[in-house]
Amino acid sequence: MGRFYITTPIYYVNDYPHIGHAYCTICADFFARYHRLMGDDTYFLTGTDEHGQKVEKSAAAEGITPLALADRVVERYHDLWRKLSITHDDFIRTTEARHERGVLAILKRLQDAGDIYKASYRGPYCVSCEAFFPENQVVDGKCPDFGHPMTELEEESYFFRLSKYQKPLLDFYDSRPDFVLPQSRMNEVRSFVESGLKDLSVSRTSIKWGIPFPQDEKHVLYVWLDALSNYITALGFGSGDAGKYDAFWPADVHLIGKDILRFHAVYWPAFLMSAGLPLPKHVYGHGWWMKDSSKMSKSLGNVVDPRPYIDEFGPDAVRYFLLRDKPIGTDGSFSDEAFLDRLNADLANDLGNLASRLTNLIEKQASGKVGEGDGSLKKRSLAMLQEYEEAAKALSPRDALIAVWALLSDLNKFLVEREPWKKSGSEEAAETLSEAARSLRLCALCVEPAMPAASKAIAESLGFAATDFRNFRWEEAQQAPARKLTGLFPRVDKAEYFAKIKSEPPSHQDTKGAERKMEEEKKPEAAAVPAPAPVAPEPERLSIDEFRRAELRAGKILEAERVPKSNKLVRLIVDFGDERRQIVAGIGKKYPPEFLAGKTCPFVVNLQPARLMGVESNGMIMAGNLDGEPVLLQFLEEVPPGSKIT
Ligand code: MSP
Repeated sequence: MGRFYITTPIYYVNDYPHIGHAYCTICADFFARYHRLMGDDTYFLTGTDEHGQKVEKSAAAEGITPLALADRVVERYHDLWRKLSITHDDFIRTTEARHERGVLAILKRLQDAGDIYKASYRGPYCVSCEAFFPENQVVDGKCPDFGHPMTELEEESYFFRLSKYQKPLLDFYDSRPDFVLPQSRMNEVRSFVESGLKDLSVSRTSIKWGIPFPQDEKHVLYVWLDALSNYITALGFGSGDAGKYDAFWPADVHLIGKDILRFHAVYWPAFLMSAGLPLPKHVYGHGWWMKDSSKMSKSLGNVVDPRPYIDEFGPDAVRYFLLRDKPIGTDGSFSDEAFLDRLNADLANDLGNLASRLTNLIEKQASGKVGEGDGSLKKRSLAMLQEYEEAAKALSPRDALIAVWALLSDLNKFLVEREPWKKSGSEEAAETLSEAARSLRLCALCVEPAMPAASKAIAESLGFAATDFRNFRWEEAQQAPARKLTGLFPRVDKAEYFAKIKSEPPSHQDTKGAERKMEEEKKPEAAAVPAPAPVAPEPERLSIDEFRRAELRAGKILEAERVPKSNKLVRLIVDFGDERRQIVAGIGKKYPPEFLAGKTCPFVVNLQPARLMGVESNGMIMAGNLDGEPVLLQFLEEVPPGSKIT
């Protein structure tokens, strides 16, 4: 029995998880499930990266603590992983005490090795953002986040002697040429290190939201030293109970996106070398998802939210598409068209139809009995298994699935050639069906890491218990009679689907959970003013309970000011009796800020927060619409701030 420890990056808590985040976690889940089926002692870690300036700022804009913000956002990850049937063994948050203890233990080792020193740091600094930015991110002397002017500033900082590790790192890469995968990325990393390493600043005084530097608390620890440590702090390193650390470290694979390779393949090994700890076995830098061949970005409004797809087509279809459609190492493009084509061709047709036809025939012709078969598909099927395993071990879910689908295609041909439906009741037909059933059962086992629910449904409909690779026996006896499997992956009528999402865009972009963020970022100017309702043939009616899910309250506008560089957006501070909120509204063209201050208006208060032109908005003012311009509403009599609108 082997041992397998796999990690995903820990995700930032300043945004909604998108399909790129889902992709990495689904791939890691595929490998973890595969190794469990191999009988390996498997540990799968994911989590969230919660410190740093962005969280600090977003929280300040909302008037809440960074931890309160992280507590809220982390739920989006828990929720998505639940929806996608992700089987992580642990979820680490960098704000947990166990993590902080572990990070300080690592820092202590770096200090004991003489690799931390204090010096001053000089670099481009954005006064508005209170942050240094690396030289290469500065665009025309402006900060990359908001385009504010930048100055040169000097700050005191602790440094890590990264330069000392240039040679040890290069020697390490020589001894482990497959440390970074795919191979092409190993070359990128090596060239970066060969070009020279400068010592790394590992503390900040401009940020408060982080792990305080021991004995020098005006500094907090650099967020990447904090974040990378999660891979061992989650195993209990530095916490007094290192059982899991001893069992699982070093990690077999850190699965990450290509953009954060340098942190994982240069900084992290250097920190570990300095701390005298073993280095991970592999760092895999996967490629990125684009949308309709363009880079996904908030400003383009094309960030793909996986939840509507999961709600509509189920987690297995989403998992399968992402794993199968692009090679893990390269970039790929997500489109509804490609998604539906694959769903129809590979899942509804190749797999779903075959499973349904076969189980139907076995139920009808052989009273559900799968016999020993004549062995004619055994060799071919076990050859597929070998190919599948090689691909899974080489971290290529796509190739593993391609191997399964090649067998499914052969299985279809086998049935067409032998035509068991024409020979009902004959021994030959019974053997054909049994043989095909055994082969399909193996396919079902192989698709488990990609599609756990479909795998189980197929195995059970064939009358076999779910098994794993170690216990799989071609000849194993059935446990129950086979029963026709229906509705595994219904075919989707593409034209109907596209017509439907055109007339009901919210179910696609806005999502069922009413999280409006991405849509609002797409059209920041219009976001706070409801657009005219689309003309739908049959307007959907809400029950009173559904309507009541929207929480409407009176709010008194205490302050109003224009959002810089926008002629429509105004930033409001609104009093709701027991709390004050920042709300951004697209009403500034018509209503100047001076007019708004002091007014009491109706607001929707339980929307997910959104960012409009970089400013967090925590609610929405309600407005009528006259020739495309907003018209504000007022109460006929004075109502106290916070009073409910029913
Ligand atoms: N918090 C850091 C990671 C620290 S790990 C010690 C971080 N977080 S992130 O939330 O910004 O990104 C997490 C992962 O999502 C990264 O691996 C990144 O490559 C990946 N992706 C972000 N956009 C992506 C796509 N469009 N496609 C695929 N993966 C993408 O970085």
